Amino acid sequence: MGFFRQLSLTAKFILGSLFYLKYQLPAFVYSFKRDRTERQFASSALPNGFTQPGKLLQAESSSQGARFYFEQAELEITFLASDLVRIKWSPGIAPIPYAIAHHDWADVETQLAETETGWVVSSSDLKVLVDSSAHLTFCNQAGQVLREELPPKRQGDRWIHQARLQPEECIYGLGERASTLNLRAVEDEQPSSRSYRMWNFDPAGYDPGTDPIYICIPIYCGLHRSGSYLTFFENSFDAKFTFAETATADFEGGALQYYVIAGDPPQLLERYTQLTGRSPLPARWTLGYHQSRWGFRTEATIRDEVKQFQAHTLPLSAIHLDIDCQVGHRAFSIDPKRFPKLASFTQELAELDVRFIAINNPGIRSSRESNLFLEGQVLEAFCTDPNGELIVAPVWAGRTVFPDFTKPKVRAWWSRQYAYLLEAGVNGFWHDMNEPTVFATWGDRSLPKAAQHDMEGRGGDHREAHNVYALLQAEAAYQRLRQYRPQQRPFIVSRSGWAGLQRYAWVWTGDTASSWGALRQTIATVVGLGLSGIPYSGPDIGGFQGNPSAELYVRWLQMATFLTFYRTHVANNVQPRAPWTYGEPYLSIIRHFMQLRYRLLPYLYTLAWETSQKGYPPVRPLFWFSWHDERLWAIEDAFFLGEALLVYPIVQAGLRSRTAVLPQGQWYDFWNDTVIEGDQTVELAAPLDQIPLLVRAGSILPMEDHDQLILHLYPLQHGTSEGRVYSDAGDGYGEWRLDRFWMQRNEQGLTLSWEQQGDYDFHYQGVRLHIHGLSVKQAWIDGQPVAVEKQQIEWQRFGQVYLQSEV
Ligand code: GLC
Repeated sequence: MGFFRQLSLTAKFILGSLFYLKYQLPAFVYSFKRDRTERQFASSALPNGFTQPGKLLQAESSSQGARFYFEQAELEITFLASDLVRIKWSPGIAPIPYAIAHHDWADVETQLAETETGWVVSSSDLKVLVDSSAHLTFCNQAGQVLREELPPKRQGDRWIHQARLQPEECIYGLGERASTLNLRAVEDEQPSSRSYRMWNFDPAGYDPGTDPIYICIPIYCGLHRSGSYLTFFENSFDAKFTFAETATADFEGGALQYYVIAGDPPQLLERYTQLTGRSPLPARWTLGYHQSRWGFRTEATIRDEVKQFQAHTLPLSAIHLDIDCQVGHRAFSIDPKRFPKLASFTQELAELDVRFIAINNPGIRSSRESNLFLEGQVLEAFCTDPNGELIVAPVWAGRTVFPDFTKPKVRAWWSRQYAYLLEAGVNGFWHDMNEPTVFATWGDRSLPKAAQHDMEGRGGDHREAHNVYALLQAEAAYQRLRQYRPQQRPFIVSRSGWAGLQRYAWVWTGDTASSWGALRQTIATVVGLGLSGIPYSGPDIGGFQGNPSAELYVRWLQMATFLTFYRTHVANNVQPRAPWTYGEPYLSIIRHFMQLRYRLLPYLYTLAWETSQKGYPPVRPLFWFSWHDERLWAIEDAFFLGEALLVYPIVQAGLRSRTAVLPQGQWYDFWNDTVIEGDQTVELAAPLDQIPLLVRAGSILPMEDHDQLILHLYPLQHGTSEGRVYSDAGDGYGEWRLDRFWMQRNEQGLTLSWEQQGDYDFHYQGVRLHIHGLSVKQAWIDGQPVAVEKQQIEWQRFGQVYLQSEV
């Protein structure tokens, strides 16, 4: 063994031992203490046996539904909209409405009628049948059964809720999962039992199958032959969801209050995000490429990284700084020795159109040297055990205490801390370790369940507060960013969260392995997050823990080009990774995809605007547009980006073509314009510099090239279709415009008309039409003949374009 290798191994050993002493020993001690606290304050043992509602005694109508009195429980059914019903079983403590964004629902006309077996409460879109022994059946307008629920069971504070599933039924959602897209796996055509935990958790690196991970949300969509529905349990306690013959939700405590929505998948998400809030339109730059690394320590390293982007002609929108930019890994710090002139440095980056994103963990170092700690103590901001002893646990900053974000004045205090970093030009924040995570050698890596929380003044413990912890941290940050910089849209990325997180933050999928399996997993995880109301997410490109091969990195980046959050990030103990790391021919391929991403920005931004209006995730499962097509229900290695693009990533080493199940309609191959009939399975080419990418016939795909808007027209064989382009200043809350285009195709040719809404000036210098799949003979713009070159026409503005096709 060479001298240098020996030296490096010794250095690694010494560093490893220091790490052991610094973090592992305290982690070991904390694990003991946590267990002791849990034992000391263990909640009373559950009574033997379950209580069930018993027989129905009485029913009465209420203003928006009905109330049912059973022997042992009460049930309140309230229609918030004609397709959205809230079900409330009592007893049980009422949830604090952290998830809920909308409270003032318009009146809905409902009826209560008696039937042979019980009662029916109905609106124009949804019927709920309640029988005399507390079975609930949800039917759509046509009378088809969407969901059948068994009487709930209660044992002390615990609730068990069960619904029968249809044999073919697929289940999607539950927040962020490293699972199959359909959470109810089917083996040998029989549904097999699968369980998922509702407890936000840092798995410290994960592979497909790991459960739980960082964001658990008790929401799922059921899809079967008679239709689809969504259920959201407004309960943040630890729970276990099992999908087999039935869907069982077993909550450790809290209320049994939940919502059922009926409709097709887009309607479900639209209604759910009306209830829990929609993601606001992000600044346009957020949709560009982000570069991150656990290891950017100094201004000089970042300056150098940015220069490399320029030298390699690669676009870049943001740089993310991990904990090593801080002083001793402390929250809200940036080391002035290594960033001596932060404000001028962020300004220097801004001039290059690069934003500066700083990490922030929720734990505060417990030290009398820390002002944050002292202030927090005066404010009684930190979580304690029931005896009032501070809970102190090891995290990156050392001995750490945890702000109780369920206390309004703590959120206000916390939110003020962002001000000075904003003042220094920091553009956004990355919230990490906020499950909250601590270092423990065994058992749960979080606060003891007995840790006390304010819960908006009504009191509670970590059993209830754990899952909403990161949501409330994000809320505090978001409110401050809105107030402090009213003309800029906040950008927050959070590792953990709960229902409603979409109102404040984006997410990334945490510490994935650098493996082909993890690349494939990302698709189901991101699509599942979208179906849980969280539209903006993405993986560490290439994976967090490991050194991907050049091929794996290229394939990962190609896929991520079509996801919302486009960021490379790596751990500190692997090779630094950036788009140029692997040299040629990979660099050119990567550059091509990154440039494609920026050319697609008008499309992505229009999708983001649609998300803010409707709550639809930009990244969608294959069944989104044709839910009745069962072939599409379990496809988890492909996705739609909006309505126009169908992406079939390559998720296996060495693959140079792959099969693709096409939904109905016609599809254009993005790379060569071949028109492919839908409703069939095809083999598509995937040389290393391409992944299969299809465009739906009828699409008007907006792209840009410097100051020109390019409309790629992919006509239908016959008929009319619409395309839209949303634009505004790209940030702030000023004027906007919506350009709407109608494309009508007939035997002779194609007509394109343009209609404009809104007051924001059209900011492109000109428009280029690029016509696919139809050979243009002659063209007229507003009645004037114009030249067509290589299927393209350049113009400034027009009302109507007519294109005559070659016969
Ligand atoms: C966590 C994060 C990771 C980050 C690291 C150091 O593992 O998930 O993204 O780089 O902490 O802060």
